[in-house]
Amino acid sequence: MIQRPRGTRDFLPEEMERRRHYESLLRGVCRSHCFREVATPIFENTELFTAKSGPNIVDEIYSFQDKGGRDISLRPELTAAVMRMFVNEMSNLPRPLKLFYFGQCFRYERPQSGRYREFFQFGAEIIGAANAETDAEAIALAAAMVRALGLREYHLRVGHIGILRDKLRSMGVADHDMAEILQKLDKKSYDEAEPLLLARGVSDKDKEELFAMTRMVGGKELLPAIEGEAGDYLRELFAFLDAYGIRDVQLDIGTVRGLDYYTGVVFEIEAPCLGAEKQVCGGGSYTLSEMLGGDAVFSTGFAIGFDRILLALEREEQAFVNRSPDAFVLATGEDVRVESFRVASLLREAGLAVDVDLMRRKMSKAMKAAASTGARYAVIVGAKELATDSVTVRDMQSGEQKLVSIEELGSHLMD
Ligand code: HAM
Repeated sequence: MIQRPRGTRDFLPEEMERRRHYESLLRGVCRSHCFREVATPIFENTELFTAKSGPNIVDEIYSFQDKGGRDISLRPELTAAVMRMFVNEMSNLPRPLKLFYFGQCFRYERPQSGRYREFFQFGAEIIGAANAETDAEAIALAAAMVRALGLREYHLRVGHIGILRDKLRSMGVADHDMAEILQKLDKKSYDEAEPLLLARGVSDKDKEELFAMTRMVGGKELLPAIEGEAGDYLRELFAFLDAYGIRDVQLDIGTVRGLDYYTGVVFEIEAPCLGAEKQVCGGGSYTLSEMLGGDAVFSTGFAIGFDRILLALEREEQAFVNRSPDAFVLATGEDVRVESFRVASLLREAGLAVDVDLMRRKMSKAMKAAASTGARYAVIVGAKELATDSVTVRDMQSGEQKLVSIEELGSHLMD
């Protein structure tokens, strides 16, 4: 038997219906915030991803040469692709552009619960302005999306990458050395950050101050203590978040984020019920357009890990009820089988969800099949009733049966 590739999943009908339901909730939230949907290819030229992250990123993504010898990669995320699309097609449009997307991403990771090689992101990008209200708009959308899904317990953490970058700069660390150190700090791997700092001549005192900053976590009472432009920016951001009614935000100066392109505000949403892979959303502000051949344009955005957030809803035991048919149409015998399909068609045209017996079952077995679909009504088509243009309708819950004229059948079932 051929198995599916490691780190991928099949979605059976029940699960697919659940996914589509939540997807459409999220689309609704995006629309209510006036974001518009875009789609980009699932594969891109590899250089789109190496441009900012360097050639080593290829070890973490699905990269290959196509038959024409081109270096191609399956997208590991959509921000770079959306920015490429912006530079290629949308740079003359009025700004800001408020875009959202839903699609699968591929990363060559070690699969575990909540971590897949093929997964789905629901994300958004605002292209055009570098100000606190733009970041607030992105964070407000992310928070509204999480709330709309009904996740009960989550933590929203906001930081500003400029604070740690400024500190590193003041300690004499060159910009091109920062990414590696910041990645260690992101994981709070102080043992691994220490030798990197010492190798760049950072003093013990500075190092300890830096480590202490990454542990600064709290509410808005921390705001006055944050110096410089980043402090002013965060104070403004919190005022806008407050205006949007978003008050359950943690200020976390140690929020760094794994990707290399962030320049200012960064934020994450965690669902504690997920354990190790608890980050359900990540984002922040960045400038990528210049590197992709466009003008320098400020952007901010985020992506929700769709699979992960659905897993969190499951862990919180949030029930999703699949939709059952409104009616199941069955025939009492072969003489009326064709006619029963005509009745089903009428009901479908009236807007009802109607199933039919495709297995040529005898009446009693067909009735069992109807019950197993969870249909609300069985519509029993028999020769005697058809003679008076009627059918028998059985309420599958109460077992009550009624003779109903075909003309009134649709409105009868819709009551
Ligand atoms: P990211 O943090 O790499 O950010 O991914 C966003 C979310 O995708 C994560 O918070 C997580 O929920 C989910 N995710 C990541 N990897 C996996 C995986 N292997 N399996 C399941 N879920 C996963 C970005 O991708 C940025 N493009 C976000 C962004 C948009 N920043 C600015 N704009």
